[in-house]
Amino acid sequence: MAEADFAWRYGPTALILGGSEGVGAAFAHQLAAQGLDLLLVARKPEPLEETAAAVRAATGRRVRTLSADLTAPDAVDRIASFAGADEVGLVVYNAGAESRFLDFLDRPAEESLRMAALNVTTPIGIVHRFAGPMAARGRGGFILVSSVAGVAGCPRNAVYSATKAFSNGFAEALWYELKPRGIDMLGLVLGLTLTPAMQRMGLKMDGAADPALVAAEGIAHIADGPTFYAAGTGEGALYLRSLDRGEAVRAMASSASELG
Ligand SMILES: NC(=O)c1ccc[n+]([C@@H]2O[C@H](COP(=O)([O-])OP(=O)(O)OC[C@H]3O[C@@H](n4cnc5c(N)ncnc54)[C@H](OP(=O)(O)O)[C@@H]3O)[C@@H](O)[C@H]2O)c1
Repeated sequence: MAEADFAWRYGPTALILGGSEGVGAAFAHQLAAQGLDLLLVARKPEPLEETAAAVRAATGRRVRTLSADLTAPDAVDRIASFAGADEVGLVVYNAGAESRFLDFLDRPAEESLRMAALNVTTPIGIVHRFAGPMAARGRGGFILVSSVAGVAGCPRNAVYSATKAFSNGFAEALWYELKPRGIDMLGLVLGLTLTPAMQRMGLKMDGAADPALVAAEGIAHIADGPTFYAAGTGEGALYLRSLDRGEAVRAMASSASELG
């Protein structure tokens, strides 16, 4: 799509939740290069400011930042008031990774509930809040970043994989509902990707995808929903789906233990 068409369809401003590092930072650079102004949200102020400054320097676009925790009960209200009168034509919900592998019973319940807020409750509130004005304008888009961990239950990562299954189903159903209102919805399914969050987890990152590649695939395929399997993860997902469910869960458990 030509830059002017892209900016008209998904601009003037993109909101990136989890826009400071890794895939989110790659989205920030690439969307600004396509002519969009940016609203970036993440918790740690330093990487957020670094990414914002780098994008401003590279593209000259307007970039505003908000340091906020997406698991907080008032997250959607805070983000809505941060966006203010800016016309948000594209929302990328990127934040959402797990920070450790651990059995469900060995993890404090609060940690699992925070994961549910990050990947279920807050995305529902965000999509509801920003899709309304997009529908009134008859244009806009969403990219919900998900994971192959949502294709089958992943032991030691139970709530994470369940929230990613939610994300996949949510994106698919809304793709159908929002299309007639002029809004594109894409569930962008990632496999192992070389991000600072995964590096902090100390996982074996052999063969991990480049964040810039998966962000570019998301942008290129935003209108090709409901789902795009980034960096060639489609075959693995298809294989998992072909298995008996118990076999699929055992395969997930074995992949997770190979990672670390
Ligand atoms: N990396 C992989 O191998 C992989 C594989 C499959 C799927 N994915 C998906 O890809 C997306 C990005 O993953 P990632 O590896 O880059 O890790 P991530 O921990 O989701 O971090 C991505 C961004 O989100 C922000 N963030 C995380 N938690 C947040 C919170 N509670 N509130 C506000 N901002 C928050 C981070 O900054 P702060 O930490 O400063 O807040 C960062 O800017 C996730 O949805 C993940 O599930 C990743």
